[in-house]
Amino acid sequence: MKSIVANWKMNVGLRESLVLARAVVDFTRGKNIFPEIILCPSFVSLDEVKKILGRGRIQLGAQLCATEKTGAFTGEVSPQTLKDIGCGFVLVGHSERRIIFGETNELVRARFSSARASLLTPILCVGELLAVRQSGDEENYVTEQLESVLVSQKFTKKNLLYIAYEPVWAIGAKEPASIETILGMHLFIRTVTAKIANIEENNIRVLYGGAVTPENAFQLLRESEVDGLLVGGASTSIRKFERIIKVAKEIIEE
Ligand code: PGA
Repeated sequence: MKSIVANWKMNVGLRESLVLARAVVDFTRGKNIFPEIILCPSFVSLDEVKKILGRGRIQLGAQLCATEKTGAFTGEVSPQTLKDIGCGFVLVGHSERRIIFGETNELVRARFSSARASLLTPILCVGELLAVRQSGDEENYVTEQLESVLVSQKFTKKNLLYIAYEPVWAIGAKEPASIETILGMHLFIRTVTAKIANIEENNIRVLYGGAVTPENAFQLLRESEVDGLLVGGASTSIRKFERIIKVAKEIIEE
């Protein structure tokens, strides 16, 4: 199975979210086999997008969740509310949260835990900065990101753990990381995560994110190490996103 996650960031307003969601429902209608698709609109669009998705197979995800279920946290959104709306997933630790809003590994861990406590599946985003890669320290950096969040978590054999490897220097860039870099890091992340979380490697889904386009989706998705894609820019274009889903479908059917 391959997972395709659409991260619409703050780029897509309510009306456009509904148009995009309707288009995704339309182009997946009547198809038996297609990848797991998770749409992540902004908070204010979640409820209306869910109405379009209904009880179908396309999943809803949030871009963030609070560290607690309730309380005096002005501006935050409770994971329980997200669950009630119909979200199954939530992005946690996206590099834009870490870099622009100063989210530390500790805060990411708290968000990850609270998501799980409300039965949402967190998609934990990790990835090194350009300077870290240039100094050759990316494995230690990513290990720390994984360890600080996962070490205190308990997983059962049934749990699937979603990790998105998003090298910060590839997000919004012209080109994704090289396939060698991606495969090396995915293998590394899978091995390290299995050890830290005491979970089977098969239960870890390692997605790649950063400059994914319809043109490079095939090269990425045909690799068994790549369990899916976290798509930013290209997921906000119906035409591009549809082509990425088609590529994933072809690979699943092969
Ligand atoms: P991008 O963003 O596909 O536009 O590079 C990916 C992300 O930030 O999740």
